[in-house]
Amino acid sequence: MSATDTQFQPASMADRASAQAIGYLMQQGIENADCLSLAAGFVDPETLPVELVRQTTAELMSASAGKSTLQYGTTPGSDSLREVFRNYLAELEGDSNHRTSLSLDRIVLTTGSQQLLLLVSQALFNPGDICLVAAPTYFVYLGVLDGVGANAIPVTTDENGMCPDALDAELQRLSDEGQLHRVKLVYVVSYHDNPAGISVSAERRPRLLDVVRKWSDSQHVFLLEDAAYRELHYDGPVLPSIFSYDQQHDDDRQHVILSQTFSKSFSPGLRVGVSVLPQQLIKPVFDLKCNEDFGSGHFSQNVVASVLQSGAYRQHVSRLQQSYKGKRDAMLAAADQFFSDVPGVSWLHPNGGLYVWMTLPDHVPTGFDSDLFKRATHTDKVMYVPGELCYPSDWNQRPRNQMRLSYGVLDNDGIREGIQRLASAVRAVV
Ligand SMILES: Cc1ncc(COP(=O)(O)O)c(C=O)c1O
Repeated sequence: MSATDTQFQPASMADRASAQAIGYLMQQGIENADCLSLAAGFVDPETLPVELVRQTTAELMSASAGKSTLQYGTTPGSDSLREVFRNYLAELEGDSNHRTSLSLDRIVLTTGSQQLLLLVSQALFNPGDICLVAAPTYFVYLGVLDGVGANAIPVTTDENGMCPDALDAELQRLSDEGQLHRVKLVYVVSYHDNPAGISVSAERRPRLLDVVRKWSDSQHVFLLEDAAYRELHYDGPVLPSIFSYDQQHDDDRQHVILSQTFSKSFSPGLRVGVSVLPQQLIKPVFDLKCNEDFGSGHFSQNVVASVLQSGAYRQHVSRLQQSYKGKRDAMLAAADQFFSDVPGVSWLHPNGGLYVWMTLPDHVPTGFDSDLFKRATHTDKVMYVPGELCYPSDWNQRPRNQMRLSYGVLDNDGIREGIQRLASAVRAVV
């Protein structure tokens, strides 16, 4: 028998990764390249800081620090970026004490925040363990949970984010069923989330943490606060992080993992994510990261440190906010214009982020196999993300009549045209 005749069987982890929605979605993007994309979660190419990164790179390379910038970094990442980020975080929280109270050891830089989501999941879950997630939630993270063999359990979520009472009730149910010991994490995208553009309200932030604390008596439950869209804020109240409420307690009682990223606010290509870990997770996450890469891209970290330190980053973010606000408004205006006479269609008005979440009448499915998706991609030439991807796939009550519409990539005319095409597809099937 030759080597080519023998069967290769991928390991179970690779097998579990093969069925993920993100892969299928990207494939759809390639197959429907002639469509206007309201699907891609990419940032706006027009606002990427090309000139600023060019100048910063030139400065970094001409300075004596050039050589060390091109050297390996360390597992937790560049000290200078972690330090400037600590100050910046204090600014975001409007809390100057933060700066002194947060130990640098707790800050870790990763390859995008996606790596942090994976490392934390690897550190927390054995197969069969449980993660409670908002419904809907970031579908790529559902894939990560699948990959590590964790069960995602949806928690009722409305326009004010995950409901603390529903979280409490779900934990009570799991406790009654003797499953509480399997609950390791609650996952919440706290600002202008992916997919629905929803933020957890000011009132719910401390309450979610209280519920997590309440059920952490016999074993620790963590709350992963994914704040990927925190800085893409256009209007409405500026909210403190859930993490900020966790600071009032002593070091042994830390529950919140705060995950942020420079992808949405600066450049996803640089792949710089930054997180603050509870004390108990530092060692397991660092151990796993050591095995994986013993430090993320040192060069990118230095670029981000430099623009954050000089103030250029803040100026960039404020320009970005203006630009995305205009695009958000363009999408909402187009939705008003083209959908208001379609019965049973509604959508949310986000205060930030990149997405508008639209709900169609109950009897109109939006999935890849639906008449709507086929009509939209083949006839009207527009693509969206089917909402059902954003719920655990084994949840039989998951809504099938929703869509995530992104205003990230297209310009205002493209957004308007995309929504007009989508309305035409919806009218044809409704
Ligand atoms: C909610 C959320 N979290 C995390 C990420 C990961 O982003 P990155 O790895 O670029 O930081 C994304 C990317 O779209 C996201 O939408």
